[in-house]
Amino acid sequence: MAKEKKGVRLEHISKIYKDPKTGKDFYAVKDCNLEIEPGTFVTLLGPSGCGKTTTLRMIAGFESPDEGEIYLGDEAINALTPNKRDTAMVFQSYALLPHYNIFDNVAYGLKLRKLPQDEIKRKVTDILKLVGLEGMENRMTNQLSGGQQQRVALARALVIEPGVLLFDEPLSNLDAKLRVSMRTEIRRIQQEAGITAIYVTHDQSEAMAISDKVIIMNGGNVEQVASPKEAYYYPNNKFVADFIGEVNFLEAVVVAQDEVDINGVRLKCATGDMEINKQCSVVLRPEGASLSDEGDLSGTVEYSCFMGAYQDYHIKVGETVVKIQEYNPKNKKIYNVGDKVFLNFEDNTLYAL
Ligand SMILES: Nc1ncnc2c1ncn2[C@@H]1O[C@H](COP(=O)(O)OP(=O)(O)O)[C@@H](O)[C@H]1O
Ligand SMILES: [Mg+2]
Repeated sequence: MAKEKKGVRLEHISKIYKDPKTGKDFYAVKDCNLEIEPGTFVTLLGPSGCGKTTTLRMIAGFESPDEGEIYLGDEAINALTPNKRDTAMVFQSYALLPHYNIFDNVAYGLKLRKLPQDEIKRKVTDILKLVGLEGMENRMTNQLSGGQQQRVALARALVIEPGVLLFDEPLSNLDAKLRVSMRTEIRRIQQEAGITAIYVTHDQSEAMAISDKVIIMNGGNVEQVASPKEAYYYPNNKFVADFIGEVNFLEAVVVAQDEVDINGVRLKCATGDMEINKQCSVVLRPEGASLSDEGDLSGTVEYSCFMGAYQDYHIKVGETVVKIQEYNPKNKKIYNVGDKVFLNFEDNTLYAL
């Protein structure tokens, strides 16, 4: 569908704003370096205020960077206005034309480009089919559900065949169930159109569900660029570990290469190139340990609750309370508050920061 998949490169990009309260300048985005491969779906993920929208708006051309250069394919685009860039943006508010029908909303950009009528008709029909609105050309946009309006907004962005599609929290006006189905739809459409997509969200499960890569941001800085799986199992730091999924940090000391001491117990653990005797934090996901009457690391049950899919535990290990979720508890021994229990780790579970 797209003319050409384009990559995007950010080189040392910064944006400085004035804080309205203090009147002082601050970096909303600081020295951001990114390389987005053509045809991939990447997500800017992070808490509110971390600089996601600012980064996206600089790529779209609605804001100019104070430092650095942005490239679309091989072309430096800092000096280009938004309409001269080969990008299209899907907004949270949809920004549809209310007194137009679906066809005219989608055709709008093509008419501006003065394409012949029959070509407009063909392109709009094709795109409406792709987004699942076939045969609805004549419906007025103010008669559509939120999900349908989102599809129109997506069709309108796609129809001009941009090299890169940009999304800023496009699903936040939809209810929870529709958000989940629409994100799957957006991923399908991106794959079918074979287009590069840059997507902004603060919702980590949304990011994991749709992205080839997540770009995790915090306070204007990029903390990690990785596949969802890499970011989950091998976070760069505590912020990333905590932002993506639930996590426990166990205080430990490196005692050998790929071995740590937790509470006097030696355990296999990926330690990278950490020095012996270094204090570290071991990342343990709640589903990363199983419980039994004997095993690796002992603790006492402080909380035990049946949640259906899993038994939810808090287990006091030394001075730390560890959250553990034992999935499929039906045929497993259930431990109760006060029970002594052991945590067991499979190989390659523990990872030190
Ligand atoms: N036009 C602006 N003027 C001043 N500060 C701004 C402006 N736009 C955004 N900010 C500030 O920049 C920071 C990053 O904002 P933004 O990129 O919108 O974050 P996010 O999209 O991650 O929630 C925030 O502290 C925000 O308040
Ligand atoms: Mg934002």
